[in-house]
Amino acid sequence: MSDTPGIRIEHVTKSYKNGPFAVDDVSLDVRDGEFMVLVGPSGCGKSTLLKLIAGIEETTAGRIYIGERDVTLLDPRKRDIAMVFQNYALYPHLSVRANLGFGLKLRKASKAEIASRVDEVARILGLEEMLERKPGELSGGQRQRVAMGRAIVREPAAFLMDEPLSNLDAKLRVSMRAQLSRLHERLGVTTVYVTHDQVEAMTLGQRVAVMRAGVLQQCDTPDQLFDHPANLFVAAFIGSPAMNLVEAGVEDGEARFGTAVMGLPEDSPLRAGAGRRIVLGLRPHDIKLADAGIAGVVQVVERLGTETHVVVGIDAPRLRSRALADAVESAPDDDILLAEDDRASFTVVAEARVPVDVGDRVALAVNPARLHGFDAETGEALRAPAEARAPVAA
Ligand SMILES: Nc1ncnc2c1ncn2[C@@H]1O[C@H](COP(=O)(O)OP(=O)(O)O)[C@@H](O)[C@H]1O
Ligand SMILES: [Mg+2]
Repeated sequence: MSDTPGIRIEHVTKSYKNGPFAVDDVSLDVRDGEFMVLVGPSGCGKSTLLKLIAGIEETTAGRIYIGERDVTLLDPRKRDIAMVFQNYALYPHLSVRANLGFGLKLRKASKAEIASRVDEVARILGLEEMLERKPGELSGGQRQRVAMGRAIVREPAAFLMDEPLSNLDAKLRVSMRAQLSRLHERLGVTTVYVTHDQVEAMTLGQRVAVMRAGVLQQCDTPDQLFDHPANLFVAAFIGSPAMNLVEAGVEDGEARFGTAVMGLPEDSPLRAGAGRRIVLGLRPHDIKLADAGIAGVVQVVERLGTETHVVVGIDAPRLRSRALADAVESAPDDDILLAEDDRASFTVVAEARVPVDVGDRVALAVNPARLHGFDAETGEALRAPAEARAPVAA
């Protein structure tokens, strides 16, 4: 099957009853056949944006296109879109077969056509054996697949999915995630998928759009979001365990925080922060327990079997920048609980059997090329001077 048309969102704004903007001047280009994920904390406007695309809500300003067609004012039923929600209501008294065919029947499709499309979708989703059962006789995952099937059977131009897996238990969610990816590869239908779960976003999205308080923060591939977050919010929101953050100063080609001093490479973006307060960021995977480096004391050891998370208190004050306070407030990990005192702590991802215990004195080695830097006031990522940066592909 070839890809379906993309969705273009141009300066779209939505306010409910003159309230604050639920969606604030968002522009986003979902490509033909792309799997785009909208992610952000609860209340950031994800569902609203999805409803605007579907036409369930009216835009306050801006335009929405599906392919070349301007659908901004178009009736939702004419937008050729299928939605899948968290609370998918199947008809309990109808068989799976009838549930799958219901939408087509409403559209007055012929009996033969309904039968052939339902069979096809049942085959794709592995529901052939269950066609005569009622929803009550299915597991949660099977019911979710039927809900997905109802959307697929319509062969829409686009799927809009709003946290469709949140009602499933963790293990099932992971397997449904893999099935969804395969399904998308197979059908090539343009999909906008909403979740508050950054892991789900990163594993499913070809690109991921991060939202906060109605405003689009960054839209990029998972790798780019992880390696080059545009600001402190994205940096703190994406990645698990979350990025370690500490306030620092930059001078004479060195970054300093607490008693730590680190020489910066020529092309380090942190050099742009010389002479002002910055927030320095370090991914937990980019720190190693070593013989020499930043001194610290082990506060927590979490052994996960495949790896160990070690929380190390270091000799630096905890961060108090406004940008950071905002960002961490919505960070997915509750690191804040661990930092009851006024000292900063770094989480390190170490090997599974690493021989450390709470109270141990350790040293942390850091590769300065892996440091992230942000303006402490605005939260914007610091950028290396243009001449040191690799050219950006068009
Ligand atoms: N029907 C509505 N009337 C008034 N305010 C709403 C309505 N729906 C959503 N909102 C508000 O818009 C903001 C965004 O909500 P929503 O899009 O549901 O966020 P998300 O899906 O990211 O959790 C929230 O502040 C929410 O309270
Ligand atoms: Mg929502």
